[in-house]
Amino acid sequence: MRKLILAISTLAFAGSAAFADPIQERQALMKERGKIAGQLSKVVKGEAAYDAAAVLVALKALHANAEKFHANVETLFPAGSETGDTTAAPKIWE
Ligand code: HEM
Repeated sequence: MRKLILAISTLAFAGSAAFADPIQERQALMKERGKIAGQLSKVVKGEAAYDAAAVLVALKALHANAEKFHANVETLFPAGSETGDTTAAPKIWE
């Protein structure tokens, strides 16, 4: 029981860990997402050959990126991170 409580507390702590620079963190995730979307869009436009295995790798990376964003949404958008070197819309914090 004690081990279970410890495990849950550790998970809760890990889930709420703040980023040193949330703006940089979310921009890094978005840059990665942009790169993956760019690879996929080249295939869709016929500018790159269709390689099912490579497309699957890219889609999995896009999924992992989205899950990382989703799992950290609270810590990616803390109060105060709407100002500074960011293009995030202030509406997000409303
Ligand atoms: C395929 C879909 C997407 C692509 C390719 C993409 C790409 C990008 C890129 C390239 C940036 C600029 C990053 C920078 O300043 O270096 C950005 C910013 C941003 N994106 Fe996305 N994005 C996508 C979807 C989304 C979604 C679904 C959300 C929210 C649910 C989102 C939220 C944001 C926010 C909040 C910023 C501003 C970050 C900041 O400057 O603080 N994006 N995105």
